[in-house]
Amino acid sequence: MRAARFHRYGEADVLRVEEVADPAAGERDVLVRVRAASVNPIDCKIRSGAQRALIHYRLPQITGLDVSGEVVAVGSRVTRFKVGDAVISSPTHRRPGTCAELVAIDESAVALKPARIDHLHAAALPLAGLTAWASLVDATRVRAGQRVFIQAGAGGVGTIAIQLAKHLGAEVATTCSARNADFARSLGADRVIDYHEEKYEDVLDEVDAVLESIGGEANARSLSVLKRGGRMALVVSGIPEAVKAHGPYAGVARALAAQAAFIGRAWWQKGVAVKVVVRPTDGAMLQRLADVVQSGAVTPVVDAVLPLEEIAEAHRRVESGRTRGKIVIQVA
Ligand SMILES: NC(=O)c1ccc[n+]([C@@H]2O[C@H](COP(=O)([O-])OP(=O)(O)OC[C@H]3O[C@@H](n4cnc5c(N)ncnc54)[C@H](OP(=O)(O)O)[C@@H]3O)[C@@H](O)[C@H]2O)c1
Repeated sequence: MRAARFHRYGEADVLRVEEVADPAAGERDVLVRVRAASVNPIDCKIRSGAQRALIHYRLPQITGLDVSGEVVAVGSRVTRFKVGDAVISSPTHRRPGTCAELVAIDESAVALKPARIDHLHAAALPLAGLTAWASLVDATRVRAGQRVFIQAGAGGVGTIAIQLAKHLGAEVATTCSARNADFARSLGADRVIDYHEEKYEDVLDEVDAVLESIGGEANARSLSVLKRGGRMALVVSGIPEAVKAHGPYAGVARALAAQAAFIGRAWWQKGVAVKVVVRPTDGAMLQRLADVVQSGAVTPVVDAVLPLEEIAEAHRRVESGRTRGKIVIQVA
């Protein structure tokens, strides 16, 4: 099969589309013919080597943690899926590899694709959507009538999170550039803050829940808009920045120590519970989200569709930090 992989850590041009052996489905795996995959910032961080103290691969490694496609084979102990099912998944870090014609995934990480959307949009859903769900439904337990602040509303996570928070009945404030303000409103945001022009801590307060996806000094600024006893879902670790400054191992240690200190401070100063969110790979959670998408309440946003051959360009666009929704890779 054709697959996009890297033989060494480095810039986006280490990615190559090559002929590789087809994967075999283990007894609990479904084998998926990939129709589309999407690129996430974590794919770039992994490819760059910034995460290698935490996530270590035997290279070469096929890239990709998001897929929409069709089941072409199932392992002997698979119970929930059959050949021909249209499915979506965000597989675990231990077994990535969705930017390929075929991928084998443990059925526990798989859900049925919402029929309402095509494979290109469905591939934009799993990783960002699971992160948004884990942040708003589980970590901060957003309820109707609450005030929620979602950082980076135009991004992959933010576009889903705004719609999901509105679906949960919340009042939503978000940050983005002026060029994305109408777009963020079209997703349902009630208050859009152009972060180049306004400081969100000057215009927001007494917020019930924050989805913090910027990190660094933004952690404390987001804490300041929360009410006493509020909740924060923290989806960024600061690891890539710390790795750049201090190397792969000391960098990870420093970033995790800084995060632990922030969590303690937030609790001590404001009684704010900060939950570190690591994208779950839970197929049951993904199915609940897929059902919300099927209902029409949430629609994944596709910024651009590129062929597998342009995987390096797709990584560059994600690394620009300027994408609106997701960059999708059309595989078949
Ligand atoms: N913990 C986890 O499991 C997990 C899961 C998913 C993502 N993440 C992390 O969460 C972060 C966001 O992920 P993503 O997929 O949403 O990224 P993304 O799609 O690449 O985000 C791009 C968006 O970020 C916006 N943006 C950039 N800088 C901003 C700022 N200072 N303030 C507000 N908006 C800003 C841009 O909007 P403008 O062009 O309008 O500025 C752009 O639309 C990444 O660091 C990612 O690695 C973590």
